[in-house]
Formats: sequence, structure tokens, C-alpha cells
Amino acid sequence: MATKKKAKAKSKAAAKKSAKKVVKLVAKKPAAKVRAGNGSGHPRPSTKPWGQAGRALDGVRILDFTHVQSGPTCTQLLAYMGADCIKVERPGVGAITRGQLRDVKGADSLYFTMLNGSKRSITIDSKHPKGKEILDRLVKECDVLVENFAPGALDRMGLTWEHIHKLNPRMIVASVKGFGPGPYEDCKVYENVAQCAGGSASTTGFREGPPLVTGAQIGDSGTGLHLALGIVSALYQRIRTGRGQKVLCAMQDGVLNLARVKLRDQQRLKRGPLNEYSQFGEGIPFGKATPRAGNDSGGGQPGWILKCKGWEDDPDAYIYFITQAPVWAAICDLIGKPQWKTDPDYATPPARLPRLRAIFDTIEQWTMTKTKFEVMDICNKHDIPVGPILSMKEIAEEKSLRDTGTVVEVDHPTRGAYLTVGNPIKLSDSIADVRRSPLLGEHTDEILRKVIGYSDKDVAEIKASGAITAPEKPAKAEAA
Ligand code: COA
Repeated sequence: MATKKKAKAKSKAAAKKSAKKVVKLVAKKPAAKVRAGNGSGHPRPSTKPWGQAGRALDGVRILDFTHVQSGPTCTQLLAYMGADCIKVERPGVGAITRGQLRDVKGADSLYFTMLNGSKRSITIDSKHPKGKEILDRLVKECDVLVENFAPGALDRMGLTWEHIHKLNPRMIVASVKGFGPGPYEDCKVYENVAQCAGGSASTTGFREGPPLVTGAQIGDSGTGLHLALGIVSALYQRIRTGRGQKVLCAMQDGVLNLARVKLRDQQRLKRGPLNEYSQFGEGIPFGKATPRAGNDSGGGQPGWILKCKGWEDDPDAYIYFITQAPVWAAICDLIGKPQWKTDPDYATPPARLPRLRAIFDTIEQWTMTKTKFEVMDICNKHDIPVGPILSMKEIAEEKSLRDTGTVVEVDHPTRGAYLTVGNPIKLSDSIADVRRSPLLGEHTDEILRKVIGYSDKDVAEIKASGAITAPEKPAKAEAA
């Protein structure tokens, strides 16, 4: 009897244990739990008209410790998407770019205004004890901290990952650094350093010339874009995990990601020459590394930049012309060489490879008789891929870019109207919020009161402490 009782108790305990296990497993699956409620668990589709259901990142608050270009590119984009971006600046001085490359005396430079639109500005001395206290309060109120200081600077402010994570376990801490962990991790890095270290410069330029950096800021703005994707992904993961994480984008990595086709070519080199590079057609041997390819098209279809009508006076009267194989016959007809369609020296792509320079010279004789826009119109009718070389002046004046909000004119209280680049990513239900950049400390008061909740008395104390105001200049000695 006793053994029977014992066995019963044992099996009851085992059943209890296994039930606990099941509960534990279910509890481990929050996604399943979410899905179980309200049918799919997702909110009902909004019935508001498209573009009137708020913005994609409404409700996300960013503590923006960024400066110069890479970090500000990231946070400006997130602000365009609806995030409340609070830019922390040094009292009295502000971000260094406010005064760099100034074109209007006394006003914030375009370097600053074009990278800090749609943000709010608060001045805080992050090394002042009261300033540290305010920052701790802000850490608790924000979702993401973004910074691109030199390595170690954030830690020196006392904002270590451990400190931040303790204050706010949901906080995502996103950083741009020049290099990832390794021999160069402590280096300060600017745009062109990254272009060189990421493989872009060695593969840009003409074969016979030195390496070249590009005008597009692939190191700074390019890495800022990578960081923005990292942040949005971390926000999405946080929905499941409930906790923040570190997001790191090294500029070297960002540039390499954009130059990946050149790493592709590096590996192809081991198996033979790169046929689509014009140096192959010219019989020039390849070295050990991916060479510079001038204006060759990277996609395997020969292309080059050709002069158009007016090139003698206009440095941008050029067009990019691709001799794509399927439209070769149309090209021959257009340039007055119909015989090339059947001539064995020109009829096939391999036959054309050793003659590309001469072929492009002949096409150029034709493009030089027309403006780049005329060439564009004529070629597009035949599906011949061409691209006019547009100057920044032409882009600034292009109506279609204004119409789509890619180029936006905003007003500014001290410098007047200026052009900025709006959101290049178009979301059909989240219309970009492109506003002017803030004046230095323009929102200090409202952030202290409305975001943190300080009282009038607190704010008065903070002001008196010197944590948010520029240190007083010492009074000049009276002239004798
Ligand atoms: N209050 C008080 N001090 C502040 C402050 C504030 N609100 N904001 C910044 N500072 C301090 C920092 O704490 C730091 O002090 P520390 O050196 O004593 O720690 C100091 O200002 C300067 O920061 P730092 O990032 O070192 O600026 P820098 O001008 O010396 O270097 C870069 C500039 C861009 C080279 C460097 O920040 C860097 O390598 N960043 C990472 C890569 C990057 O983004 N480069 C691209 C730039 S577009």
C-alpha cells in the first residue's frame, strides 16, 4: 500500500514537473503568445488615408551625441522617419560644424544645417556633475543613444555601456568608429581615410594615375546609412527581447560593403584576367590586385564617359554611354556605322573588346554633335542605357527632384532659405518630416521640462549650476 502511495506521489510530482516544463517552454515563446491574442495579434489595418497614420518611427526617442557627418547623417534620416531626435551639444560652442565652412556671417553653416534637420538641440556640458545627472535622466527617457566620438570618449564621459544598460536596459547604443576591433581601433578617422582603408581609393581612378577618392561621401554618409539600418533592426529585435544592444558600424567596413564588387574582382583575378576591364582589350597584363578601371562600367557591359556638344566650355557636358550587347544594332544605326552590325570585327562582344577605345571614339564623334540631354532623349527611345553627367547646379534646379521631396528648400531664422537633401527613401505611409536644423540650445528648456519633467525650481538650479550654459568669460581688466 505504502509503495503504491509512494509511486502515486512520485508520478504526481513528475506530472507537475513536466507541466512546469511545458509552461516554461510556452513562456519562452513570447511571439507565440502575442500571436494568440486578437486573431493574428497585429493591430487592425489603419483606415486613415495613406500618409496620415503618423510616421514610421513615431514614439522613438534618440539621444543624439553625433557630430561632423557620419553620425548626423544617420540621426537626420531617423528624424525624417519620425523619431524625436535630441541633439546634445556643448554649451556656448555647439557642434563644431556649426562654424565650419561658414558662408553667411554669424549663421550656422550649411555643413551643419544640411545634416541636422528635423532635430531638437539641447546644450549640456557632459563633464559637469549636474550635466551628468541630466544625461542620466535623458538616458532613461530615450530608446537609442547614437554617437560617433573618437574611441573611448563616451566612456570618459561616464556613459559606459554598463552604466547606460543599468539605467535603461532597453537602450540601444549605436556607434560609428573608424575601424572595428583590431590594430587600428584607436585611430581617429575621417571620410577620405575610410575611403582609402575600405578599398575604394585603390580601385578608383585611371590605371596610369594615383588612387582617387570619390566625391560621394561613402565613408561618412555611407556608414551613417549602415548605422541607421542597424538601429532600426535593433529596435525591431527589442520588441521580442525587451532589451537594447550595442550597434557598431566601422567606416572601413561600410566602405568595403559599398566596394564589394571590387573584392569580387580580386577573387576572379586568381582565375584569369578581368575581360570587362578595358585594360584586357588593350592587352595590358593585370597585376596582383584589383586595378583602377577609369570609367569602365563595373557590370560587364562596356561603358565610358563621352564628350557632348558644348564640352569645350562646360566641364559637365558629358554622357555615360553603355554599349549594351542587345542594343548594339541600334547603336550602329544611330552613329552611322550600320556595317558594324555584320562586320566580324564588331558584330560580337568578344570581337569588340580589343577595339573598345576606337569604338567609343567613334560614338563620341556622334555624341559631340548633340547636347547630353539630346543624346539621352534619342538613346532612351532605343533602350540604350546612357546617363547625362549632371552638375550640382543642374541637380539643385531640377524640378522633378523638388517635386519628390529629394531636394527640399527650408527656411532658417538666421541664414534664410537653404536647400537640403530630403529623405531619399520614400515610404508610402510615412511622409518625410523635413524641417530646418535647430539653433544651438533652442530646445534646452522644453526638453528639461517636458521630456525629463524638471520643475521651474529645478530648471533655475540647473541654469545657475553652469551645466547648460557657456562658462562666463572672465571680465576684462579695466584699461589703465
Ligand atoms: N560637453 C563636454 N564635452 C564634450 C561634449 C559636451 N557636450 N561633447 C563632446 N565633448 C568632448 C568629448 O567628451 C571629447 O572629450 P575627450 O577627448 O576629453 O574624451 C571631445 O569633446 C572631443 O571628442 P572627439 O570625438 O575626440 O572629437 P575630435 O574632434 O577630437 O575627433 C573625429 C573627431 C571625427 C576624428 C572623432 O570623433 C572620430 O574618430 N570619430 C569616429 C569616426 C567618425 O565618425 N569619423 C567621421 C567623422 S565625419
